[in-house]
Amino acid sequence: MPGSLPQFEIDDGLTHSFQSRSIGIRAIDQQHAYFLDLYNELVLQINSSERGPIILSPFLAEVFSYTEYHFRTEESLMRTLKYPDLEAHRADHWSFYNKLDELTGRLEQQQADLAELTHLIRNWITQHIDTHDKRFGHYYASLKANRR
Ligand SMILES: [Fe+2]
Ligand SMILES: [Fe+2]
Repeated sequence: MPGSLPQFEIDDGLTHSFQSRSIGIRAIDQQHAYFLDLYNELVLQINSSERGPIILSPFLAEVFSYTEYHFRTEESLMRTLKYPDLEAHRADHWSFYNKLDELTGRLEQQQADLAELTHLIRNWITQHIDTHDKRFGHYYASLKANRR
């Protein structure tokens, strides 16, 4: 449910720099904002974990299903708009998904720690959006400009 989570105020730099991560396509930006909510929710849970164990499975289930939904949304728009870098973009998407899957397996076997999970999600938000998604945003803007 995009946008259904409360907006957390985490003094983390990521939240504060998020505005600059707009790629200029509203539906996609909204989905990215939801990822930030998910990330912040994870950080909050870890921060308060002295109150009890973190129940990760609902969180991970949501990350997996939303990631898949988000990637398919972007790829379908790219296909419609004949985006020339679709294949490279797709490869980056599913490489993240596979890393998440692999890490989840290790977390279940207690062979990874939560810092790896926050690191992976944070890196994905900062690196993929800032490079691949922004490039698609520029392509989208150029199509719009040419239609004028
Ligand atoms: Fe994206
Ligand atoms: Fe993407």
